[in-house]
Amino acid sequence: MACLICSAPIPPFMSFGRMPIANGFLTREQFATEYFFDLQVGFCESCGMVQLTERVDRERLFNETYPFFTSTSSRMVKHFTEFADEIRTRHLTSSDPLVVEIGSNDGTLLSSFAKAGQRHLGIEPSSNVAEEARRRGVQTLCAFFDESLAKRIASEHGPADVLVGANVMCHIPDLHAVAKGARVLLKPEGVLVFEDPYLGEIVQKVSYDQIYDEHVFYFSLGSLSRLFEQYDLEVYDVRPLEEHGGSMRYYVGRKGRHAVSSAVEDLRAHERALGLHRRDTYETLRTRIERSRDALKDLLVRLRKEGKRIVGYGATSKSTTVTNYCGITPDLVEFVSDTTPIKQGKYTPGVHIPVRPHGEFSARYPDCALLFAWNHAGEIMAKEPQFRAAGGRWIVYVPQVQILS
Ligand code: TMP
Ligand code: ZN
Repeated sequence: MACLICSAPIPPFMSFGRMPIANGFLTREQFATEYFFDLQVGFCESCGMVQLTERVDRERLFNETYPFFTSTSSRMVKHFTEFADEIRTRHLTSSDPLVVEIGSNDGTLLSSFAKAGQRHLGIEPSSNVAEEARRRGVQTLCAFFDESLAKRIASEHGPADVLVGANVMCHIPDLHAVAKGARVLLKPEGVLVFEDPYLGEIVQKVSYDQIYDEHVFYFSLGSLSRLFEQYDLEVYDVRPLEEHGGSMRYYVGRKGRHAVSSAVEDLRAHERALGLHRRDTYETLRTRIERSRDALKDLLVRLRKEGKRIVGYGATSKSTTVTNYCGITPDLVEFVSDTTPIKQGKYTPGVHIPVRPHGEFSARYPDCALLFAWNHAGEIMAKEPQFRAAGGRWIVYVPQVQILS
């Protein structure tokens, strides 16, 4: 397998085995035709990029049935409102500025600009979520972003002040096309600002559930800097975020146009200390992932032997890696509670655990809730005090497998 960034060969450091589409919630009738692929991840010793070594066609992932709506989480809505405020005050200082978002989903981020009457354009390939954005008054193009689309946008709308992406850049196999597109579309002082789950956090927390089909890349400052350099672009600022269990926001501009912040040098030092540039770091990660899998499976089996009822909380895309890799089947987890209407009544990918509305969780609390949506732990714990009060216990597996007391 060749590196998507520099074409060097990359042997995978880990295989999770046969894996279904992470967001492929399905009906019983679809079980027989379910699609599987081999989920493997590798580290490129030549350019430092961690990436999937087998990929799923993008049309299979992002289409009219995409089940993820950003606005389902109040925490994410708040996060994107703050992000929009930052963009407005820090980067939209010209008169009549234009902000373009790659992977704009249901328009949660851009709605802020739409409401303020500011020029904006969302690019979203999944038609169902794009339609929802339009209903909310967010101008949206249903397409994949690349250089030719960037040219079209620039000629129709003029150059952009900001190109933004939240949890989308790591989904795009052809990052060269995005870098080229950014150069075509942005004003000379324009900024590409994006955030994604951060490789350093995955390594530190063993949050291997971030590894699934949609996440083609696991970014570090080191690997991104090398990529952007080729296009005379540079990462001039970074900001760690708590979202998605530990993310990083990167600010990229044309080389020399922006002062490089001290946070960039600090993060470089942090990455060196973590060993993100070394192959053995990922060999160690594999061992830690295997231990985490064994501990979780053992715990669930023990609890079931004791007669405990276990229910999953949050039918997240990342839980597909956990359930399939660990072999968590409906005999261990009775159902998964989720508030997203289009997931309810369906089954989780691969292991086929039923997805039920939240009401079934609260109507008859289980003994234990396996927190698949661990990245939303704060929000969830705050709204579920009664589960605990009724004697219920939360099970988490990041940063380690444990029953919270
Ligand atoms: P995410 O981790 O990719 O944001 O997905 C969160 C999933 O968890 C989504 O399907 C909605 C679900 N969810 C709940 O069911 N209840 C909740 O309180 C939260 C925050 C999320
Ligand atoms: Zn490479």
